[in-house]
Amino acid sequence: MSRKPIIAGNWKMNLLQEEAKELFLAVKGYIKDYTKEQLPIIVVAPTFTSIAAVESCRCNCGCREKLFTSAQNCHWESKGAYTGEISVEMAKDAGCDYIIIGHSERRQYFSETDEMINKKAKAILAGGLIPIICCGETLEQREAGETDNHIAGQIRAALDGLSEEDIAKSAIAYEPIWAIGTGKTCDADEANRVIAMIRNVVKEVSSAKAADSIRILYGGSVKPETIEEQMSKSDIDGALIGGASLKADSFISIIDKTMKLN
Ligand code: PGA
Repeated sequence: MSRKPIIAGNWKMNLLQEEAKELFLAVKGYIKDYTKEQLPIIVVAPTFTSIAAVESCRCNCGCREKLFTSAQNCHWESKGAYTGEISVEMAKDAGCDYIIIGHSERRQYFSETDEMINKKAKAILAGGLIPIICCGETLEQREAGETDNHIAGQIRAALDGLSEEDIAKSAIAYEPIWAIGTGKTCDADEANRVIAMIRNVVKEVSSAKAADSIRILYGGSVKPETIEEQMSKSDIDGALIGGASLKADSFISIIDKTMKLN
């Protein structure tokens, strides 16, 4: 089957409300000339404080079907005494259709575990949103030859207990940690190899159908100059982009190049 690519911008802890709106409006302006069939699925993940701001930029131009909003994290509980957290329902209420979970920065700086990421995935899917589940190895793990084992373990844990249908609609982002924000991209053939391995794990824990449907993105220093080669590979279904998603011209160029490859 052919999987529609996802181009997702992870804005991380950047952009004040007005800056977020400006970037969102630039993307919205670009996509208005194209149908949703022509475009990849476009997702932007602002900070929590800018979600409402970008949502206020929507009108009846049809952008809700082409340009989606994502949160960068959530809690798995629906409400309660969890200071500083937001629930899936809150993200949905703010306008999100997607939620990124398990980003390496959350694992590394906020001690998120595979078990927490699994609980988040379940809560997101139960709430009718789509998780973008991140995985990736450190440079030390890569050099020690542990990449495949480590990633397979992260994926097995994240998908534990999810139905075939839920897995099929989810997305995974393979982001080698050593390639995030460093300007070093993973060689496209190697990224494709790891992503094909992940797809195999999905097949093993779920089914061929789920493996065939799930979107698996590459992330780590994706730029307009790298996207064509990455998207030409058999198993890479899109990109999760940090730095290059913060500037309208580079993010739009990545969308444009992806669309033209379709
Ligand atoms: P980068 O970030 O594109 O700046 O490397 C990717 C990510 O962390 O999602």
